[in-house]
Amino acid sequence: MRHETIEKRLNVMMVLIVVAISIGGLVEIVPLMFSADATEPDENIFPYSALRLAGRDVYVGEGCYNCHSQMIRPFRSETERYGPYTTAGETVYDRPFQFGSKRTGPDLARVGGRYSDAWQRLHLEDPRALVPESNMPSYAWLADKMVDPELVTAKMRTLRFLGHPYSDEEIAGAAAAVTGKTEMDALIAYLQELGTNRRIRR
Ligand code: HEC
Repeated sequence: MRHETIEKRLNVMMVLIVVAISIGGLVEIVPLMFSADATEPDENIFPYSALRLAGRDVYVGEGCYNCHSQMIRPFRSETERYGPYTTAGETVYDRPFQFGSKRTGPDLARVGGRYSDAWQRLHLEDPRALVPESNMPSYAWLADKMVDPELVTAKMRTLRFLGHPYSDEEIAGAAAAVTGKTEMDALIAYLQELGTNRRIRR
């Protein structure tokens, strides 16, 4: 009977739906904000070095996440293929996360060290030279674009403001670390580190 009264009054029903969803949301989300598992870095997880940070921005800027996820799910089929599943604690320095939702290509969460730098360079220049059936685009032009040292320094300062524990020396040395480097160098440095701090091979 009461149910019927609510169902016949759209306003009341909308308010009650919002209340019900909010409670569900709060119960799910708020505890996570205080859970160290979700907010504290895992062991061996550090903010990106200057060059890798620049590379990460190339990755985001070129939209690699449209075809590649960086999120290994806790299923046997995934951990057998890619390695240990992704934890929240290893992504605390990822702003924004690169979890992705589309896998036209393989997951990259643990691709670091799987190939040589030379392989990565050639693959980015001409994917089909190495994998003839690949539909990954070529990113050859990244070898002609230089990383902007001032921009990287400014980004590290901003990230420190947001809580990433960069030291004064790291920020002071950032410009020198990326001077003369191309976006290709930076992207490869980024890829080669992905997941290496948690890589357990079976
Ligand atoms: C249109 C979809 C697409 C886009 C965009 C794309 N890729 Fe790929 N990528 C693929 C496919 C498909 C493969 C598997 C075949 C191959 O190795 O080329 C692949 C493979 C890779 C591999 C090898 C992974 C492994 O475990 O063998 C790396 C590394 C990679 N891509 C990096 C990148 C980066 C970095 C970018 C952005 C600059 C990018 N990809 C953009 C589709 C894409």
